[in-house]
Amino acid sequence: FRTLDDADVAGNRVLVRVDLNVPMENGTVSDATRIERVLPTIKEISGKGGKVILLAHFGRPKGVDPTQSLKSIAPAVADKLGKPVAFAPDCIGEAAAAAVAAMKPGDVLLLENTRFHAGEEKNDPEFARALAANGDLWVNDAFSAAHRAHASTEGLGHLLPAYAGRTMQAELDALTKALGAPARPVAAIVGGAKVSTKLDLLGNLSGKVDILIIGGAMANTFLFAEGKAVGKSLCEREMADTARSILATAASRGCTVVLPVDVVAAAEFKANAPSKTVTVDVIGADDMVLDIGPKSVLDVTTRLAAAKTVLWNGPFGAFELEPFDRGTVQVAKAVAELTEAGTVVSVAGGGDTVSALNHAGVAERFTYISTAGGAFLEFLEGKVLPGVEVLRKR
Ligand code: 3PG
Repeated sequence: FRTLDDADVAGNRVLVRVDLNVPMENGTVSDATRIERVLPTIKEISGKGGKVILLAHFGRPKGVDPTQSLKSIAPAVADKLGKPVAFAPDCIGEAAAAAVAAMKPGDVLLLENTRFHAGEEKNDPEFARALAANGDLWVNDAFSAAHRAHASTEGLGHLLPAYAGRTMQAELDALTKALGAPARPVAAIVGGAKVSTKLDLLGNLSGKVDILIIGGAMANTFLFAEGKAVGKSLCEREMADTARSILATAASRGCTVVLPVDVVAAAEFKANAPSKTVTVDVIGADDMVLDIGPKSVLDVTTRLAAAKTVLWNGPFGAFELEPFDRGTVQVAKAVAELTEAGTVVSVAGGGDTVSALNHAGVAERFTYISTAGGAFLEFLEGKVLPGVEVLRKR
């Protein structure tokens, strides 16, 4: 597909789809990673004399909702960018047209939340045309929203010359390196609470990776499926058959599935709750598994040391409650060290995963951290991302 290298932006109105769906606390941005990631694209277009018109969604509003306005994000973008960012109170119509008409080459303008219009999520061609009226070309730099076939993430690609932004390129490069033609062996860590939400992921990965390491509460479902007691732990007992068939499929494809060998269990889900470490054969009726134990950490890190590519989605334990963050933190540190030693390429993504790696203080030491949640998962599930596909077709 075409990139900014191919785009003639000077003097032109460039609609840039970015992902500014950032976490907020008390009215201010609490994690600016997504803003930081789109700066290269904005700076490049602005620096080449293009008029940068930012399109983004925020939250999941049903129609116009002042509590989900992008107005409060504009100052954070301006701050990181080091130049003013104008704001228009609508993304189509007169307000948008007037703000665009007032722009000079190099200026940056943020338009109001695209999801204030029902046509955005419906990918309504009429709404897409109204968006397109303010641009000469379209740059998609929102990989993390590329799993949505919405007007601003997909529809515009049919109406204007379409280009991938720098973050879109970086995300696709990193993920393709990790899953497309990776250095082998490839190890994938899949954690999180539920098997039921990660069936497609486990199914696709078991056909692509050499080692599948399962952590988080979903590991309890696998342990239960193998006939082990899991006490009061989070466990989807009704998924036991499914878990067994995932294990059988993986084995038939030559993929080794790794489950915990020991766990840290407590009687309640609380920070610093009294806990004990037990092997997975002796989990008691009152035990709640909240983390993997030291033998599991050693097993996992030993296997990762033999890998050349590591993909990571989902924490090993209840990392938000100390000391049940230990397993995740120790494995995260080991992956960071292997990455720095140059023996593995490490790619991680998904909301919880990135906060867990930030908590471990090692996120910058990974080869690549995706800013995407749902889109990262869908990519690993082998699904087509509409916002990427439209770039390829054009
Ligand atoms: C995200 O936060 O993962 C993206 O911005 C997509 O948001 P959505 O799940 O509301 O479409």
